[in-house]
Amino acid sequence: MTRDLSKAVTVDKLTKKFGNFIATDEITFEVDKGEIFGFLGANGAGKTTAIKMLCGLLTPTYGKATVAGFDIYKQTEKIKQNIGYMSQKFSLYEDLTLFENIRFYGGIYGLSGKEIKLKAKNILSKLKISELANKKVRSLPLGWKQKLAFSLSMIHEPDIIFLDEPTGGVDPITRRQFWELIYEAADNGTTIFVTTHYMDEAEYCNRVSIMVDGKIVALDKPSELKKQYSVDSMDGVFQILARGTSVKG
Ligand SMILES: Nc1ncnc2c1ncn2[C@@H]1O[C@H](COP(=O)(O)OP(=O)(O)O)[C@@H](O)[C@H]1O
Ligand SMILES: [Mg+2]
Repeated sequence: MTRDLSKAVTVDKLTKKFGNFIATDEITFEVDKGEIFGFLGANGAGKTTAIKMLCGLLTPTYGKATVAGFDIYKQTEKIKQNIGYMSQKFSLYEDLTLFENIRFYGGIYGLSGKEIKLKAKNILSKLKISELANKKVRSLPLGWKQKLAFSLSMIHEPDIIFLDEPTGGVDPITRRQFWELIYEAADNGTTIFVTTHYMDEAEYCNRVSIMVDGKIVALDKPSELKKQYSVDSMDGVFQILARGTSVKG
């Protein structure tokens, strides 16, 4: 199979059923390289299920997809090497220190001891928490944990990073700082695939898809969606789509 490198992610009618329940219903879209792609939807819309299939963690019922040019059925190991994944329930090891967590994740991705030390220094100084290297993760506020988790999911410098509600439960200032990290990664050429249910964050994305009950019901630039639905915020777009009461046309 030749590897299609022109798109970061391609998805064609990807579907996941749990028994008779359709969690992800024939979703089709593509993500460009270097794009910040927002994957929006209310709780239970099917976002995590879709992400798990794309990361090679859950077998689809049917449909096709490639990630970094690799097939999600046959090349899951390749996918795992080329992506970062920060899960909704991502757990740093609370009983390990910050440095020990960095060493652990660096080790998983095959970094040498020397590389890990360098990464640890860079990550902690960038997050301005160098002095906390030997503190247990347990002692960190949630926002810092999330920022560290993000940095760790990028430790192997992946092409694409999947962030599943990375800012859930985090205060607005920390959310903004988190988005600065996202922009920096995107500036360095990393493709960002991010789910959120905070509609203000949707505005930060190059393009967004909106998922309702397993289906993608809209996909475009935030500015285009606002124009299309004649509203001045992404929250307005979302309200219309989630209620199923389109004022369009
Ligand atoms: N393993 C599973 N078995 C049965 N139902 C599931 C399973 N995982 C998710 N679901 C259901 O699929 C739907 C979508 O879930 P999920 O993908 O987690 O949504 P989101 O991430 O958008 O909140 C929900 O109704 C959820 O209860
Ligand atoms: Mg979820």
